[in-house]
Amino acid sequence: MSGRALYTPLPVEVAEVRDEAPSVRSLIMQFGEEQDAAAFDYGPGQFVMVSAYGAGECTFCLASSPTEEGQIQCTFRRAGRVTSALWDVEVGDALGLRGPYGNGFPINEWRGKNLVFVAGGIGLPPLRSAIAYCLDRREEFDKLTIVYGARTVADLLYKPELEQWKEREDVDLVLTVDPGGDTPEWTDHVGFVPTILGDAQPSADNAVALVCGPPIMIKFTLPVLEKLGLARTSIYTTLENRMKCGVGKCGRCNVGPSYVCKDGPVYTAAQLDGLPPEF
Ligand SMILES: Cc1cc2nc3c(=O)[nH]c(=O)nc-3n(C[C@H](O)[C@H](O)[C@H](O)COP(=O)(O)OP(=O)(O)OC[C@H]3O[C@@H](n4cnc5c(N)ncnc54)[C@H](O)[C@@H]3O)c2cc1C
Ligand code: FES
Repeated sequence: MSGRALYTPLPVEVAEVRDEAPSVRSLIMQFGEEQDAAAFDYGPGQFVMVSAYGAGECTFCLASSPTEEGQIQCTFRRAGRVTSALWDVEVGDALGLRGPYGNGFPINEWRGKNLVFVAGGIGLPPLRSAIAYCLDRREEFDKLTIVYGARTVADLLYKPELEQWKEREDVDLVLTVDPGGDTPEWTDHVGFVPTILGDAQPSADNAVALVCGPPIMIKFTLPVLEKLGLARTSIYTTLENRMKCGVGKCGRCNVGPSYVCKDGPVYTAAQLDGLPPEF
């Protein structure tokens, strides 16, 4: 963070708006001032507060990787007041940005390991940050397996990038859509993410898993990963509790003794076992 007041957003400009899926867009933002860009040092799994002036602020994980210099990407689903205002922004518009906040993934501890990314729907953005990071430093990691599913083909995010990952020989990409949809052109898997993950059988040797998606997907994915041989200390996920300050002051995000905005949003499955039962 720069030396500005804690809650003062930094000015950013919208450099690009990308349609990703129905009701889902990415904003690519750039800092107005060079020193702000230089001071913005983040890691995969961290989040920011984005302000639409006049509408309010909301919390988004960073979908870009720090290896993609000059590019800050957030991907959001149009949900309510602020995200509807953000839906209407155009290239060149001014927004505010606070952060980066949160702990992020301990990615530097994972050098030399096999990484298994498991994402569902709009859960891909924080993992996209980690995936882009690992691909830009490919030699530092062993096998990369990505299992990604969405309800329908149209709901898959980052389609051009999925094509690129698919082409790479050093990435094992497994795509799936939920059963029951209309999938005439679809040649990949049809089935729920946990089932397809179990079929894919990624190696659990020296592996960590990153899981992000709807709670129901996470619930059924954890036992599959454990059956494959991953310990709960090696399975990471991110929580999306409602937040206000983002910096451990307001108490909006607490889960038991844990401030999700500071202690999280990244937790291991083992750490979640120690939090109150709804999590
Ligand atoms: C760490 C973190 C990372 C996040 N990353 C992303 C992201 O990358 N992309 C993205 O689209 N969203 C993300 N979210 C959720 C996002 O912050 C909310 O969807 C957003 O704040 C909604 O703002 P709004 O003003 O448009 O909606 P509001 O008008 O505030 O609410 C619209 C509806 O959404 C519900 N809602 C709002 N926030 C949440 C929440 N956090 N959890 C559950 N329900 C909620 C409200 O109860 C209401 O029903 C993240 C949240 C957190 C805490
Ligand atoms: S959001 Fe205010 S304490 Fe976490």
